[in-house]
Amino acid sequence: MAEKMAGLKGDKVRLVPPDKHAHLENSIRWLNDPEVTQYLLMTIGVTRGMEEEWFDRVQKRDVEVVWAILDDQDRHIGFTGIHRINWKLRMGGTGTVIGEKSAWRKGFGSDAMRVRTKFAFETLGLHRLESEARIDNVGSQRALEKSGYRREGVARKKMFWGGQWYDAVLYGMLDEDYFGGRS
Ligand SMILES: CC(C)(COP(=O)(O)OP(=O)(O)OC[C@H]1O[C@@H](n2cnc3c(N)ncnc32)[C@H](O)[C@@H]1OP(=O)(O)O)[C@@H](O)C(=O)NCCC(=O)NCCS
Repeated sequence: MAEKMAGLKGDKVRLVPPDKHAHLENSIRWLNDPEVTQYLLMTIGVTRGMEEEWFDRVQKRDVEVVWAILDDQDRHIGFTGIHRINWKLRMGGTGTVIGEKSAWRKGFGSDAMRVRTKFAFETLGLHRLESEARIDNVGSQRALEKSGYRREGVARKKMFWGGQWYDAVLYGMLDEDYFGGRS
């Protein structure tokens, strides 16, 4: 049984560090569900060994901050994170998976992004966040825009899935967008 952690609180979600005991089984289930992974690059599924290794690794890496997302009932519904942080340029790439399908389109994804953004700019002191979504992943694009990211361009035929190339929409948010938008 995992201890209750304060984590980072949003309007609807709480972000807590990923815990192998509390969150591993869900991550294996979600990342082997083609409906959840259809827009992600990781389309061949994951093994228990791969996921265990991921949980061990992310805690130790100083270029990555990953959280498990809990809903307002403390139910584990997904993961979000800042990846490949470049501390010289003060930038990182972001990603979110709401794996619990019953939790889709209830505002949890965009709230998790807002909490992550606050941490990135106010606590880590980053300058730029960036993310990308497959062109037909409307949910991801709407959630990014709703949480303050700006659409910056389209990378042609960047993602391959089901025998087909897809364009990727690039999104970014700067510290000045974040702090300017709050005043
Ligand atoms: C994409 C994802 C993170 C969005 O999270 P979510 O909690 O479902 O999104 P929210 O409820 O915060 O919705 C934000 C906005 O997007 C809209 N939206 C969400 N999913 C949508 C969909 N499938 N189609 C159209 N609009 C959608 C919502 O209606 C909302 O807009 P509104 O406030 O104007 O109504 C989540 O669906 C998910 O993890 N999907 C699977 C993995 C994935 O694709 N991750 C992103 C990879 S880039």
